[in-house]
This record gives sequence, structure tokens and C-alpha cells, in this order.
Amino acid sequence: MTALPSLQDTRIGLIGLGYVGLPLAVEFGQHYPTVGFDIKPDRVAELRAGHDSTRETTPEELQAASQLSYTTDPADLAECNVYIVTVPTPIDRYKRPDLTPLERASETVGRLLKPGDVVIYESTVYPGCTEEICVPLLERESSLCYAATELPNWPPVGWNKTAESVATAAVSGDTLDAINVPGVTDTLCRKRSPLTLTPASDAAPGELIPAYETVGAQPSGRRTEAPEHVPAQTATTDAVALSSPGGPGSPPKTQPTGHFYVGYSPERINPGDREHRLTTIKKVTAGSTPEAACFVDALYNRIITAGTHLAPSIRVAEAAKVIENTQRDVNIALINELAMLFHRLNLDTEAVLAAAGSKWNFLPFRPGLVGGHCIGVDPYYLTHKAQEIGYHPAMILAGRRINDGMGAYVAQQVIKLMAQRDLPLRGARILILGLTFKENCPDLRNTRVIDIIDELQSFGALVDVHDPWVDAAEARAEYGIQMTPAPAQGIYQALILAVAHRQFRESGSRRLTRPWPAQGRVL
Ligand SMILES: NC(=O)c1ccc[n+]([C@@H]2O[C@H](COP(=O)([O-])OP(=O)(O)OC[C@H]3O[C@@H](n4cnc5c(N)ncnc54)[C@H](O)[C@@H]3O)[C@@H](O)[C@H]2O)c1
Repeated sequence: MTALPSLQDTRIGLIGLGYVGLPLAVEFGQHYPTVGFDIKPDRVAELRAGHDSTRETTPEELQAASQLSYTTDPADLAECNVYIVTVPTPIDRYKRPDLTPLERASETVGRLLKPGDVVIYESTVYPGCTEEICVPLLERESSLCYAATELPNWPPVGWNKTAESVATAAVSGDTLDAINVPGVTDTLCRKRSPLTLTPASDAAPGELIPAYETVGAQPSGRRTEAPEHVPAQTATTDAVALSSPGGPGSPPKTQPTGHFYVGYSPERINPGDREHRLTTIKKVTAGSTPEAACFVDALYNRIITAGTHLAPSIRVAEAAKVIENTQRDVNIALINELAMLFHRLNLDTEAVLAAAGSKWNFLPFRPGLVGGHCIGVDPYYLTHKAQEIGYHPAMILAGRRINDGMGAYVAQQVIKLMAQRDLPLRGARILILGLTFKENCPDLRNTRVIDIIDELQSFGALVDVHDPWVDAAEARAEYGIQMTPAPAQGIYQALILAVAHRQFRESGSRRLTRPWPAQGRVL
């Protein structure tokens, strides 16, 4: 099998410099030569100028990443041997996964791959997506073979100890083609892999030994399969002689072949959160072979102070990430439903939650809008996969339905309160404070505040939106909203505090409402 890079010789290409990609590039850029690639020239230009509009990194942090450069040209990634893909995974208007950015990024990387390179995906997807959608594109574009093995019961019990020693070996510069996987009695070869791996026999647990050999080094009797586009008899060599395009007599053109590895390490950052940062959140890692998994794990251990959790397969790691957000979504949906019920019962939801929260195992979820790029989107990746295999995910979809309806519900409550105060809705001036999908961050993607605005406007209300975190040009381009930088005094009949930004919280309700007439207003 083509050797993995050594950690000492790792050169990283980061594909997608958004909320997830940039902090990662900045961390790796302190340790390894790192090239950050993005298709948006504006994004690359601002980063080159030392400014991050997502506010996830400071100018000082950007400067500290002394080995990090930025580019829009894929050719600048040619020297890299580890590619990390952090592009968006949105849904389309029918709430189905839109894998276009992931597919385009995989094609870009595929064209750059050399034997032994590692491609690590961080984007949130459904279980199976990396190997079913991305890997075939990498194979097609690179003409290399995907190195993957499925090992029963791997990682074995006691693996952590072994992983630590492997990580140490890796950090000190050893390559990771020599690991002992205790307890492995057999190995499976994936359909497209040209390798049949054989476990080492009598090694002591934790001992680092040459554990696997490729079929090429084995006596007869081992199976070799080549991907359709690589001639079978040459699949395990590192160079394939192709028929010469110049016709008979001209020298044969050689094209590299060999293997590439794939890893998966989902991101768990929480934009705007100053406490839980990239390096202080434990990170799940996985790889397409045990060696690749150890390499990926060791690589992340270099930057993640909280440590890593090595998952047994890429699919397990994919599933783990998508259920983290699905669980949050369903829990919030339950609290949203309870809030609607308590409202009808004339009960104060806050008071009920405070009382129930006095029990040690009551989970502290709160009602609210569920928007953004993750919690309101990721469950649809899981439901898509479930439906693809004929399973109807009733609870997950019920949670989605409730949460997707909360914006309209909030607007209807405001409308009801205004009607009770004889405030006509048609032509009423309403101010909404906050447009981003969550507090203390400028991220506008999939904000559900938009549902409140749409519902109020459908009744003829005139809605102004004020948000000190929002880039006005982005709000106009994304949603056609003209932001109100300085709300006028005394003209609004209703005020909705939609996002609990620090600035609004610190203002307190008295200061927030001072500019509005006391008579009959709705807050
Ligand atoms: N934002 C979060 O809080 C968060 C947290 C955990 C996981 N994730 C997941 O991480 C992934 C990335 O999310 P994000 O928030 O960083 O997205 P983002 O939109 O902030 O950034 C993605 C970047 O990728 C670039 N891009 C798109 N297609 C590209 C391509 N083909 N080649 C190169 N660059 C390309 C875009 O221009 C953009 O700058 C998603 O799958 C998301 O679900 C996000």
C-alpha cells in the first residue's frame, strides 16, 4: 500500500475558509505549511488583509498562523499531501441535501491527489455520504484507488492506549504504516480497493510492528481488485503504462496510480461561543484504514488540546455528528411544543422550566427559533438517508415541523396582542431587533427571523429590522431586507426582540423600549 505522509512532512490544503475552515486553517497554520483555498475572491482578499468577517478569529490569531497562506487558485494546493474539506452542506428548497459544494470540492481535490495523499472531510453529512458520493469523485478525478479496510471489532478494547503510542510515534515523525491492532483475526477488503490486508500474527498488544502487508508482497491466493478505470494487472503498482497517444512507436505515457486515504472528522464549533473553541472541544476522528485513522487522529491531536475520540469507521463518525444536532433539534422542538401548550394553559413557561430544572437530570433546553446552518438543516440529511432506505423517521420530522413553524407562531402571537389592543395591523410599524440565526454572531444563514417578517408583512405590517451584528449588504443580497441602522423614536406599535444579542441584553428592557410610545405598544 502507498505509504501515508509522515506528520513531519505534512502539508495541508484547507478547502473552504468559512466558519469551520478558517479557525482550522489558523490552528494548523501554526504547525504545518497550510494553504487555505476558497472559491470566493472576496473572502480570500479579506483574509490576506488580516480581517475575518465571521469574527471567529482575531487579527492577532490570523497573524500567529505564520505558515498559512490563502488562495483562490487550486494550482497552489499542488504541494499539499493532506486535504481537509470544510465546504457548506445546505439543503435545497425541497429540504433535500444539496451536495453540490461537496461534490465540486471533491472534484477539485481529486484532480490534485497523489499516491499516499489523505483527504479528510469535516462537512456535516449523512452516514455513508463520504464513501458513496465523495470517494467515487476522488477516484474518478485522480485515477487512484481508495484505500479502505473494514476491520471487525476495531478499534479493539484498550485501543486508546495503543492510539496514544501511535500518536506519539506519529508526532515524532514516523510513518503510520506500522501499527499493531490487537485482536484482529481477519480483514475485509472493500470492493474497489486493490488491497487485501493481512494482520500481523503474534504481536503483543500495543506493540508497534509492521501489521499489514499489501497483496503485492504476498504469496498467491490473495485477492486483488482494481477500480474499473485502472487496468487490473497493474493496480498495485505505483505507475501505469498507458497506451501511447502518439501512436505506435512513440514512448508510452506513464500516469501515476496508487492509493489515497480518506478521513472524517466532524466539526463541533459553536460560532460566537467564546468558551467552547475549536481546540477545547473533543474531536471525533475516523479513517478509511486503521493506519489512516491513526494518522488522522494524530494530526488532530496536534491542535486539539481537549483530545480526540477515534471512531471505528467513517460512517460511525458521520452518524455521530448528524445525531448530535438532531438530538438538539428534537429536544428544542419538545420545549417549543410545551411553550405553546403552556401559553394556552396560561402558564408561564419560564417558571415551569425553572421549577422542572431544579431536578438533576432535567435537560436545560429553551424554546426558540431554530435556524442556522446546522441544527435546522442537519436533521434533513439524516431523514433523507432514512427515507432512501425506506424508513420513515417520524420523530425527527415531527421535531422539524414544530421548529420550522415557530417563526410564524411568534408573529401570530404579536398579531393577536395587537388586535387585543385595537392596534390595526395594516400599515402598523413593527420593529424587529435581531436578524441573525443566533445571538452574538453575524451569521445570517437560514435565519428563521425571516419567517416572523414574512408573516407580519403578509398582514400588511411595515417591518423594520435592526441588528448591530449584520452586514447590511449581505442582508439585502440574501433576503432583500433594507436594514434599519438607527430606529426612529416613537413610531413603532410593536417591538419584537428576536435575537438575544449581547447589546440588546445589556440595554435592558427599559432602555430598549424608551423610544417607543408607552400607550398600547406590544413588546
Ligand atoms: N458553522 C457552524 O457552526 C458549523 C459547526 C459545525 C459543523 N459545520 C459544518 O461545517 C461545514 C462548513 O460550514 P461553514 O459554517 O464553515 O460554512 P461557510 O459557508 O461559513 O463556509 C464555507 C466556505 O466554503 C467555500 N466553498 C464553497 N464551495 C467551495 C468549493 N467547491 N471549494 C472551495 N471552497 C468552497 C465558501 O465560499 C465558504 O467560504 C458544513 O457542513 C456545516 O454543516 C458548521
